[in-house]
Amino acid sequence: LFAAVELAPRDPILGLNEAFAADPRPQKVNLGVGVYYDEEGRIPLLASVKTAEEARVRQAKPRGYQPIEGPAAYTGAVQRLLFGADSPLLAEGRVVTAQGLGGTGALRIGGDLLRRIVPEATVYISDPSWENHRGIFEAAGFPVRTYRYYDPATGGVDFAGMKAALAAMAPRSIVVLHACCHNPTGADLTEAQWQEVAQTCVAGELVPFLDMAYQGFAEGIDADAAAVHHFLAAGIPFFVSSSFSKNFSLYGERVGALSIVTGSRDEAERVLSQLKRVIRTNYSNPPTHGAALVADVLASGELRAQWEEELGGMRRRIRAMREGLRQRLEAAVPGKDFSFVTEQRGMFSYTGLTPEQVERLKSEYGIYAVRSGRICIAALNARNLDYVAEAIAAVLRG
Ligand code: LMR
Repeated sequence: LFAAVELAPRDPILGLNEAFAADPRPQKVNLGVGVYYDEEGRIPLLASVKTAEEARVRQAKPRGYQPIEGPAAYTGAVQRLLFGADSPLLAEGRVVTAQGLGGTGALRIGGDLLRRIVPEATVYISDPSWENHRGIFEAAGFPVRTYRYYDPATGGVDFAGMKAALAAMAPRSIVVLHACCHNPTGADLTEAQWQEVAQTCVAGELVPFLDMAYQGFAEGIDADAAAVHHFLAAGIPFFVSSSFSKNFSLYGERVGALSIVTGSRDEAERVLSQLKRVIRTNYSNPPTHGAALVADVLASGELRAQWEEELGGMRRRIRAMREGLRQRLEAAVPGKDFSFVTEQRGMFSYTGLTPEQVERLKSEYGIYAVRSGRICIAALNARNLDYVAEAIAAVLRG
């Protein structure tokens, strides 16, 4: 049975964790996976989450099956976070939200649903994009192509190229867009550009799929939802996958959501019925614990305020690490422009390091980065910053 099974390559991101764990060097640093570590190099358990968890454990609730789309306390909280508590969309019952297994799981159930609705579509992802986007939509049965996005000359977005690519897509093409903190480049669209992208999607009858894995890591919870609001204003149907892995530091709980904006309550009801079939045949219904913690924190005025403060702390620490890295690189490699390090937003910096330079970082210094040159700034701290900056400067010097 297995004689002809080939050995698959390691995952380009999560595979780095396996290699990192096996590396015996004490000075090793994992800048691969997109995970926030605190100043001590630990994944934090947020105090707001801990309080909610302790209360939950005290209540010792039974663990029955959940609704296929997840509990209303959770899906409602997701909707208020993404669309705003006062959004008429919610009152009109036009949005469908289902709990997902992290952002990845939300993308996948969205992909599976779209395959039933627009089976002939092509999915477009940005060039470059998160490594798993292509795999998820190909696994759902779609051909996947790329649209122009990143401009290596400026370190920003090639907006003219992006718009031209969007304008050339066939109607009903699916466009995957990073709502904020673009992964891997950290180069985001401005508000005015989002408005134009939304209008281009309207004109071209495209199906936007916003991936929102880092809400709160650029400017704040509401500011980072700006892209969602521009699509709402455009008045077309669209998909949003969202995740609490990063902003609640709940990676292993796999807590995310898929939200679908439809044209009417009736449409929403029919779309939800189909989405439930997709979920039922994948994993039946979602797990309880992580989503309950998120719902509890967001339902409590006190815990929600504490969570936003903790999220702000993560954001500020990442900014400080960006400043620190930029200063050190500028001092070590005079004449080279490192302003991109502080201009990019979110967890990542797209360094421009070549695959060979990334390999040298790993083999010579025990520093792990994604082959594309993406490093996770949120894994830097006062103890490893000098070492990482010196190593990057050394491989840049050749
Ligand atoms: C990343 O890009 O590193 C994260 O989103 C984690 C993952 O699942 O790849």
